[in-house]
Amino acid sequence: MKYGYFNDETREYVITNPKTPTKWINYVGNLKFGGFVDQTGGSLICKGDPALNRIVKYLPQLPSYEFNGETTYIRVKENDSYNIFSPYYVPTLDKYDLYECRVGLGYSKYISEINGIRTEITVFVPENDPRLIRDIKVTNLRTTPVELDLIPVVEYTHFDALKQFTNADWVPQTMESKLIEEENGFKVLTQNAFMNRGTSVNYFTSNHPISSIESDRKIFLGDNEFGTWANPLSLQNEELSNYEASRGDNIGALLHHLGEIAPGESKRVITQLGQGEEISREQNSINKYRDEKNVDEAFNSLAKFWDNYLSKLQVETPDEQMNTLLNIHNPRQCYITKNWSRDLSLYQLGFGGRGIGFRDSSQDVLGVIPNYPEDARELIEKLLHTQKRNGSAMHQFFASTMEANEGDSRERPDRPDYYGDDHLWIVQSVCSYVKETGNIDFLNKEIPFYEKDSEGNPQESGTVLEHLKRSVHFTRNDTGANGLPLLGFADWNDTINLPTGAESFINAHLYGKALLELIDLLEFLGETETVETYKTWYAEMKEVVNNVGWDGEWYIRYIDHDGEPLGSHKNAHGQIYVNGQTWATISGFATEERAETALDSVYRILNTKNGIKLSYPGFNGFDPNKGGITTYPPGAKENGGIFLHTNPWAMIAETIVGNGDRAFEYYKQVNPVYKNDKIDEYEIEPYVYPQNILGDEHPQFGLGRNSWLSGTSSWMYQAGTKYILGIMAAYDGLIINPCIPKEWDGFKATKYFRNATYEIEVINSNHISKGVKSMTVDGEKIEGNKAPIFNDGKTHKVVVVLED
Ligand code: GLC
Repeated sequence: MKYGYFNDETREYVITNPKTPTKWINYVGNLKFGGFVDQTGGSLICKGDPALNRIVKYLPQLPSYEFNGETTYIRVKENDSYNIFSPYYVPTLDKYDLYECRVGLGYSKYISEINGIRTEITVFVPENDPRLIRDIKVTNLRTTPVELDLIPVVEYTHFDALKQFTNADWVPQTMESKLIEEENGFKVLTQNAFMNRGTSVNYFTSNHPISSIESDRKIFLGDNEFGTWANPLSLQNEELSNYEASRGDNIGALLHHLGEIAPGESKRVITQLGQGEEISREQNSINKYRDEKNVDEAFNSLAKFWDNYLSKLQVETPDEQMNTLLNIHNPRQCYITKNWSRDLSLYQLGFGGRGIGFRDSSQDVLGVIPNYPEDARELIEKLLHTQKRNGSAMHQFFASTMEANEGDSRERPDRPDYYGDDHLWIVQSVCSYVKETGNIDFLNKEIPFYEKDSEGNPQESGTVLEHLKRSVHFTRNDTGANGLPLLGFADWNDTINLPTGAESFINAHLYGKALLELIDLLEFLGETETVETYKTWYAEMKEVVNNVGWDGEWYIRYIDHDGEPLGSHKNAHGQIYVNGQTWATISGFATEERAETALDSVYRILNTKNGIKLSYPGFNGFDPNKGGITTYPPGAKENGGIFLHTNPWAMIAETIVGNGDRAFEYYKQVNPVYKNDKIDEYEIEPYVYPQNILGDEHPQFGLGRNSWLSGTSSWMYQAGTKYILGIMAAYDGLIINPCIPKEWDGFKATKYFRNATYEIEVINSNHISKGVKSMTVDGEKIEGNKAPIFNDGKTHKVVVVLED
């Protein structure tokens, strides 16, 4: 509770102490326009592409007390000088009577009280008119009237985010600011890069008369006198200089005299930071958001979006922390991750031409499908556009151009130029979408494969179903000496890139899982011949995996070119990998006995109180023959760290073998809500899952990093809802098959499915983990544990009793 608390009623996490151990952020808007805001009001905002069209200068690497892209100053004249403070804590670092940053759904709200002034600022991006709104309300808490000035400030960056670091003369020479005065005292301060004239201009404005502006950082701070962001010297002057910078470090500072505010009285100012092609074309929308009513409406419409999104599944379990996460924060993180991919966070800065990953997004959509399936489908379609004719996939693409590339393998022409797993993930995504929506027609939609002719037209297209078939066909024909799928440049584990190539067990399991999904789908569609073929392929791979993969107490992870295993007791480092065990269960390749033995080995060797390690023991020293994994010390990231993305797979595997207690133990130990009480060890936001936590081979065991944009989110949501609570869409109904801790008396859930609402009650008075004894739907007993599809817009009551 040191830095804040969860408020489930308002669906916020309330930060009460701005001095969090790392920056804690929240997302506003989306990749089209938006970015993140941190716990002290700083922002990183971009439009379209965080690497190529950055607006605000936010440098996450700087210490937390530093100015962070945006702030607002408030000043009160006292005697002969101004008392200056910021309602965001940074950069003035004053002592506040009250400080709150409410991390909400698509907005952050900052509340502070200092010097008898209360400020409430809501920051968000309206859904349809992209601009960053800061809705500022200042209230006089004093017993006497007060005269206030309000000075919102933004620091711009060069649109090409890397350039500012690589050329410190060219960049400032290209920047320019202009002031547009309007009749009523309103002003718009614009800023652009010389070369972008006519194509894009940033603007900063408000709905209140502006008495003066500053556009040059040097003048604003009083740089000659070593003025600072904590105490900008120009704010001691009555007015700002009104200088329109034609070069330099551009900022936008807007000085508003709010006049006298009576005790208890409030004044409201709304600022907008946006980008358009030409300012004249923006004027109408700027005027629109000067009207408080329109701002309120836009905010309400954002709230409605989230109401609707979250209403698709709400749960009531005996574990409150699980409820908090499953009802609010986890689905929110799934949507944010789906939107931003790995493009912009405190840790991923849109540099390096990474774009949207085929593997990552195929998994991200799985977390969005239950709540917003059509949005997920749009991304699925884009992904299918980057699948190659041979069934493999381009590793990553840019949403703005749909141009794709082959990821890091580009730097190693001596190695395979494809990833052995990418194309297999999309099978799960498409099947999951069709099960959720029943939109069978989607399978017949023609989508081009990636290859283009010399005119840039696609060389071939195929139905969605054909794309999926080619995925498994590719892997079927891409096997090595032992009959296992080849690794390619890498599989799910990006950091193992063997120079001579290898065979990969996770690729075998993904192939197995994809075949299972397709068998299920094709049986439903009545394509019996292909079903038989796929069943044969499945059985063949199962045999190979069990013939060459069993190490005695667990499955190995790779077989290298020389036939040597990785992930075996024979290895000095990396003797056991979690994915080799969990996926052997998820694919159904492991026999029951081996599944249990392998999962017990995970528990015994890899589990820690902070989560399951990816592998053990960690490599201790760089080894170019193993690749990126050996660049980390033992216990960090893929080298034996708690790479959290893998943990939900262990939960899922445990539910498959019926071990609800252990599945929940794994769930609970990584639930960030619990971390709120040991945040000094964990450090990062307790309202989202991170990508990694340092493992117990590392001196800083328990430290989390790379929060927000991670496949962890989608899989934790699936592990919690589909496998532990067992609410799983199928082609012909809604399966309820929980695997819960024995001590639970049961749980309730409300799930929207195919145009009907299912009010589900699970009764566990026998205190078991798994096994549906009876199920009634609207009071009528039905066979099995699949509720029918109603499609009638009504609510239906489903009661499930568990018994051995
Ligand atoms: C990162 C990558 C993901 C990969 C994982 C493990 O999260 O985004 O694609 O599977 O690392 O290496």
